[in-house]
Amino acid sequence: MAVQVAVIYYSATGAVRELAQAVTEGAAAAGAQVRLRRVAELAPGSAIDQNPLWRRHIEATQAVAEATLEDLAWADAFAFGTPTRFGAPAAQLKQFIDQAGGLWREGRLADKPVTAFTSAFNRHGGSEATLLSLANVFYHWGSLIVPPGFTDPAISEAGGNPYGTSHVSGPAGAGPDAATLAAARYQGRRLAEITIRLLGEGRSPDASEALAVARNA
Ligand SMILES: Cc1cc2nc3c(=O)[nH]c(=O)nc-3n(C[C@H](O)[C@H](O)[C@H](O)COP(=O)(O)O)c2cc1C
Repeated sequence: MAVQVAVIYYSATGAVRELAQAVTEGAAAAGAQVRLRRVAELAPGSAIDQNPLWRRHIEATQAVAEATLEDLAWADAFAFGTPTRFGAPAAQLKQFIDQAGGLWREGRLADKPVTAFTSAFNRHGGSEATLLSLANVFYHWGSLIVPPGFTDPAISEAGGNPYGTSHVSGPAGAGPDAATLAAARYQGRRLAEITIRLLGEGRSPDASEALAVARNA
């Protein structure tokens, strides 16, 4: 049975969505079974309508399944994506994460590899602060944080962020370029490969439940 990776993201105008797709492709290329999920939008329609790109993106991604807590329980590993919001993760993603207290208490989030990626308007607009802020959650979960580091030339070619793939959208609002998408694909592949190293190719469907039982015994 293939290792299971959940790619869970929030994106208002589509940049993080493109990164999430690339991370998904990378993890799938390594042999993982991948669920790509968007978290629920929380902003009021009046705010969304102030930005036509935001409204358009919401309408274009209705078909993407919404993340649920079951996705967190199902996954052997996670990749989280968020735009930078005042140097921190988007509230929409945090709201989803903040529903995971029950799973955390049961030990069902622990020992899972996790990685994160982001997009910001400015090159120095807080990408690293956002990823490090998200990592606080991972410490509480007892996750195995899998940063890209400089483990592949793709990282330097995409601007050199060892904390996680980071797109700079800038005034033109352009989506991620080929180098950034390649770094995101690499990040997904690395996450899946590390998970396979941890669990083995022939992961038992009951392995995570057995672990949870052992931990609570
Ligand atoms: C409320 C708000 C706060 C933001 N804060 C930052 C910020 O701190 N630094 C930055 O560079 N960009 C900031 N941005 C810009 C977004 O992070 C950027 O446009 C990002 O690429 C959007 O990703 P998305 O297309 O996936 O929504 C902010 C945008 C909004 C709406």
